[in-house]
Amino acid sequence: MSIVGARPNFMKAAPIIAAIGRHNEKAGRNSARRQVGGISKQIQHFLVHTGQHYDQAMSDSFFADLNLPLPDAHLGVGSGSHASQTAEVMKRFEEVLLRERPDVVIVVGDVNSTLACALVTAKASFDSHTPRPLIVHVEAGLRSFDRTMPEEINRILTDHLSDVLFVTEESGLNNLEREGIPKDRVRFVGNTMIDSLIAFREKAEKSLILKKLGLQASMNGDRSDAESVPYALLTLHRPGNVDDRASFQNILEGLEGLSRKWPIICPVHPRTRKRIQEFGLEGYFSDGETGPNGNEHHRESRSHGVILIEPLGYLDFLCLMKHASLVVTDSGGIQEETTCLKVPCVTVRENTERPITVKQGTNVIAGTSPKGIQKAISRQLARKTRTRIPPRWDGKAAERIVEDLVRISAARCHS
Ligand code: UD1
Repeated sequence: MSIVGARPNFMKAAPIIAAIGRHNEKAGRNSARRQVGGISKQIQHFLVHTGQHYDQAMSDSFFADLNLPLPDAHLGVGSGSHASQTAEVMKRFEEVLLRERPDVVIVVGDVNSTLACALVTAKASFDSHTPRPLIVHVEAGLRSFDRTMPEEINRILTDHLSDVLFVTEESGLNNLEREGIPKDRVRFVGNTMIDSLIAFREKAEKSLILKKLGLQASMNGDRSDAESVPYALLTLHRPGNVDDRASFQNILEGLEGLSRKWPIICPVHPRTRKRIQEFGLEGYFSDGETGPNGNEHHRESRSHGVILIEPLGYLDFLCLMKHASLVVTDSGGIQEETTCLKVPCVTVRENTERPITVKQGTNVIAGTSPKGIQKAISRQLARKTRTRIPPRWDGKAAERIVEDLVRISAARCHS
């Protein structure tokens, strides 16, 4: 049983579900040849969507883009305070878990749904003969060491509840060892989000988003692979950055120099859109409907401003990220994706739980003051340092995970 709930979960779970499909094909062929052993067993997979994210743009479009099967159970939980959202997922998930009695529950990432489902599974009791399911955490071990972030709490607790922990980068191994998690539970497999990026990179090149936003240097014809004009891409949604007016305004001031140089395209999270209106910060933004080239105002004005557009699907966003000259973000996953795409990234946070993106990748941690952001942007624009793709970010993490789970499950059956 795999759990997805919020936008960043979909691209982490999709490659695992695809790898299960490949395993089943192989197992089908093997059993036709009458082979025996764990590999000949098909995996029955059950997908649960908690409904933490529910908008077409935040959820449904990802199922289509990533070829995800429709969920077998949709819990329809929706938004709420941390306590009520987490509790609601727990209540509704418990019913599905007790009904389906899976052998393995896979949770990914660090959102409230991740923790809620891990916690329910850890305390599940079927009957005296049936052990509770194994809890598997994909993207284990990441630590920002900042407990004011709800995700950090979710990460720590989920890791300590899990039986098998799949780690994306070496820092995760050290963090888990320091916290006393037994080594035999931990495996360094790579990054399933990067599996998705590698699997869909070519398809994303066919996206027409650059043309739609007027970002293609050549406006002739429908070619999606034409050169793009230089632009920056911005995403902001962390409560710490956008829920407080002064912090939000500081970040926008830090971007003013950049917005005089290039258009800054911002696919806006629903939370951030609400705050822009609530705090009266509309003056920093312009409407992206007509695009920077198509709009007389943008062409003539000294500052392009930050151009707001609706949240994008996976393929459109991947295309926009790949062709950007610079990405500014407070997301976790985007720090990794830009490292893989070798696009310079400025992270507007005080820390990162993904240090490999700074050590080997294209990421710089800017802080959230206007000066810090300007400095990081200048540094990135002058950047010459070579970057490396982190170890095992090779598109095969999900394959390793499924192979491992088959082995662990077979051993569990025989014990
Ligand atoms: C959640 C995750 C965060 C992740 C982010 C990606 C937690 C604690 N946080 O934060 O780690 O980086 O997802 O987006 O789990 N909303 C909509 N439509 C939707 C979903 C949300 O309008 O489909 C609005 C609602 O007003 C909601 C707000 O966005 O109150 C925040 O949504 P929520 O799921 O609580 O957290 P995110 O900020 O999205």
